[in-house]
Amino acid sequence: MTSKAETLNITDNRTGQQYEVPVADGTIRATDLRQIKTSDDDFGLMTYDPAYMNTASCRSAVTYLDGDNGVLRYRGYPIEQVAEKSSFLEVALLLLDGDLPSKAELEAWEKDVIAAMPVPEHIEALINSFPQDAHPMAMLMAAMAALGADHPEAVDLADDALQRKQIINIIGKIATLGAYMYRHSKGLPFVKPDPSKSYSENFLTMLYQDDKGGYTPDPRLVKALDVLLILHADHEQNCSTSAVRSVGSSQVDVYSSIAAGIAALYGPLHGGANEAVLKMLRRIDGGQTIPEFMEGVKGGKERLMGFGHRVYKNYDPRAKIIKKACEDVFEVTGKNPLLDIASGLEEIALADEYFVKRKLYPNVDFYSGLIYEALGLPAEMFTVMFAIGRAPGWLAQWNEMIHDKEQKISRPRQVYTGADERDYVEASAR
Ligand code: SDX
Repeated sequence: MTSKAETLNITDNRTGQQYEVPVADGTIRATDLRQIKTSDDDFGLMTYDPAYMNTASCRSAVTYLDGDNGVLRYRGYPIEQVAEKSSFLEVALLLLDGDLPSKAELEAWEKDVIAAMPVPEHIEALINSFPQDAHPMAMLMAAMAALGADHPEAVDLADDALQRKQIINIIGKIATLGAYMYRHSKGLPFVKPDPSKSYSENFLTMLYQDDKGGYTPDPRLVKALDVLLILHADHEQNCSTSAVRSVGSSQVDVYSSIAAGIAALYGPLHGGANEAVLKMLRRIDGGQTIPEFMEGVKGGKERLMGFGHRVYKNYDPRAKIIKKACEDVFEVTGKNPLLDIASGLEEIALADEYFVKRKLYPNVDFYSGLIYEALGLPAEMFTVMFAIGRAPGWLAQWNEMIHDKEQKISRPRQVYTGADERDYVEASAR
């Protein structure tokens, strides 16, 4: 989108003053409103936008969303084409560098990322120090921060070559950490990554290889996993990416910024929704009828998890692709009966006034859990899968932020609603 020089004429009816405010890319700069005052000592106008419902926090070239038309593009490439034709590591490089790599560039990148998959022993010990039933997202958050402690040099944000090494390190290790969280939860020994295997093949092998070492994942499952990771790779300024950018704006190291993204993704309204969807489907499968459940949702007692989106007011294009991928996976693993319940819920919701009026459609989390479950993962691991997929997007957005001359430490203002000045009262007099 190119900026068209336009302006807004604003009349302040409090003073009769007129102001001309420039418009660029469909926005006005909030700081341009500070000139609108009622007196010289007036701070000037701010914007008030809780949860940033209508605020652009940055300029970004990484991902484009059109929520009304259900469009998602990574560096201009439609998600449908990328999901069908690319690979997760190629998408990671595309998001980071902005263009599709040459064959040689991709091979070198894949080699570097796979070589970065092994994690140090002290991180294995950290994972083993958690109770077996610790939530994997809590462990992943801790392990990511712990990796940062291994790289004090990562504070040098001006050294691009050094930061590229950290980026490769995080993309490589987050998959191993995810697999190790699963192994720990099952009381199984860790399986080291194999440099001769692809990223997704390594991940499935590290999950399921038995102590005899004989495990080769079905190529259709490897492909389905790669597609799922591609679909989760980036999504412009979602809650966790905004957390990565905001924390990163303090110039802390990238590991700490990514740990903040993991924390935000953990929430059930964000990446935690895929786990919540499975629990919701199981509850319905366990006896609560769909009409009963839907009445509860429409009565505001709970939400239809996996439905609705801040940006998409149409079908999430990723949900469409995932729903199709379910069929490919179920060919190998056998059909998950919960798919029928999910499709039933979708059919009812898409025809029900409550959902239609609020433009609530299935989002990326509605069907993804069915595939993860078919791959043998427990619900607690689903958000870890989301984090592994989103890592390249977080890193591409973080990298864009540290090079953006317009950015500085993220520090919003507030509307103060507290007490006026008052004197301290001694305890004896209260
Ligand atoms: C992700 O931002 C991203 O890009 C995120 C993500 C990514 O890739 O990073 O796409 C990943 O987080 C997908 C969303 C996963 N979360 C869920 O599926 C949880 C269920 N969905 C919601 O909680 C909700 O839809 C959100 C959080 C996703 C969006 O919330 P908004 O934009 O703040 O919308 P809202 O809460 O203001 O809801 C508007 C209305 C409300 O009703 P009214 O007050 O107008 O009567 O819609 C209702 C809400 O009650 N509503 C729902 C609903 N979602 C919204 N009602 C029932 N079920 C739902 N799922």
